[in-house]
Amino acid sequence: NEEIEWWDYDNAAEMAAAVAGDIGFIIESAIDARGAAVIALAGGKTPIPIYEALAAAKLEWKRVTIVPGDERIVPLSDPLCNVSMLAKFFLPKGARVMPIVPNAAADYKAAGRSADALMQDLHWPLDLCLLGVGRDGHAASIFPGPDFDDAISGPKTQRALGVMPDPLPADAPVPRVSLSLRAITAARALLIAVRGDEKRAVIESAIDQGRASPYPIGRVLADTELPVDIHWAP
Ligand code: 6PG
Repeated sequence: NEEIEWWDYDNAAEMAAAVAGDIGFIIESAIDARGAAVIALAGGKTPIPIYEALAAAKLEWKRVTIVPGDERIVPLSDPLCNVSMLAKFFLPKGARVMPIVPNAAADYKAAGRSADALMQDLHWPLDLCLLGVGRDGHAASIFPGPDFDDAISGPKTQRALGVMPDPLPADAPVPRVSLSLRAITAARALLIAVRGDEKRAVIESAIDQGRASPYPIGRVLADTELPVDIHWAP
């Protein structure tokens, strides 16, 4: 990808305001063009201030569908559940916030198939995919290791898949459902928001190595044809 642009901020609050502004603009443009917006938002901790700022924006929320770009396979009541975190911000606004994992999911592969089926009913491609990045270079829940190959080599139409990270991440040691690499790279807009020098170094190395990068985020950036904005704060 020749068009990767870094946006650096002095602190998380500035980054949140700017990214929320960009997302608001993307939502408005999608509603103008297609009457509705379908967006995938990241889980994890970094985007919380972004969601606070975004939820305060005046948008036609009832025309907005939000899915988590990845989900931990846990009950909705679990603090690790990404869709419940998103619902807290955007359900009161009137957005449709769509769980992608059945509440008492069986095994992760079955959960992935059911998420994929749900997403087949959404208007496609996604109007936006907002991604965080892990220190190990994971994007959504596509982790380095065997699942990386699955996420890349699935059928062309696959939008989501079940994932068992190996090793399980310490902060959320559970199986996941993730957007597929194709679903991410097909999105009409791709934004990345990260904090800290360590993640910046991971992304820079991923960009340098291109498609050969062992970091899933490297593959995402190499395969995305549209410009990508990477927002960074210390
Ligand atoms: C998840 C994510 C994941 C996240 C990174 C960064 O649910 O785990 O969506 O891909 O973006 O792990 O997480 P932090 O922002 O919490 O560091």
